[in-house]
Amino acid sequence: MIKGLIFDLDGVITDTAEYHYLAWKSLAKKLDINIDREFNEQLKGISRMESLELILEHGNKADAYTDEEKEELATLKNDEYKEYIKEITPNDLLPGVHELLHQAKERGIGMALASASKNGPEIMKRLEIEDLFDGVVDPATLKAGKPDPEIFIRGAELLGLSVDECIGLEDAEAGIESINKAGMFSVGVGSKEAMAEADYAVESTADLSLDTIIKKALEGKKSN
Ligand code: BG6
Ligand code: MG
Repeated sequence: MIKGLIFDLDGVITDTAEYHYLAWKSLAKKLDINIDREFNEQLKGISRMESLELILEHGNKADAYTDEEKEELATLKNDEYKEYIKEITPNDLLPGVHELLHQAKERGIGMALASASKNGPEIMKRLEIEDLFDGVVDPATLKAGKPDPEIFIRGAELLGLSVDECIGLEDAEAGIESINKAGMFSVGVGSKEAMAEADYAVESTADLSLDTIIKKALEGKKSN
């Protein structure tokens, strides 16, 4: 039986993955580092500080800043990101997501959020979806972020379910790895290449159907 859905937020529920990219690109530019969308795939799903470290490494500046300066750089990025998310309204749910969340709720399926973002609760509030969720994993309490399975295991625990009763939804390679390692059925949203390890993948949230993902999960892993 599938009784729970564990959602990533950025890039699955709303298009904030794009805002993260724009804010990182702008910070990187200030540091004379160029990042593109292909590089950005690695930043999806991982924490703010881990993202900064990867960008600095990419620009051969891994040792150029003290920890304090890195904190300041991460804050600068977050300040720009927060400007973007100020504008979020319920209309910014990705295609099909409103229907998916409401259909799952009507059927009594539990829902939890497993996002690495410290801005997650504010975004959920702006999208007016917080009441649909039964739990939100606080990323500040994790021992290890994605691709470690902890966040999805914690999501299932919040719902009082076992991992095989849940489906995890992600747009990040690190996120799919996290779900798979948790032993949960993984649903990927994104390009075939990025979502190669997902048990079932769609190109867009518009293609997500509750019946289909449940059917795929019941058929078992790697059956798509
Ligand atoms: C993840 C995003 O959901 O949250 C990452 O995919 C981001 O790109 C991470 O770095 C942390 O987000 P925040 O909002 O805490 O900086
Ligand atoms: Mg994401």
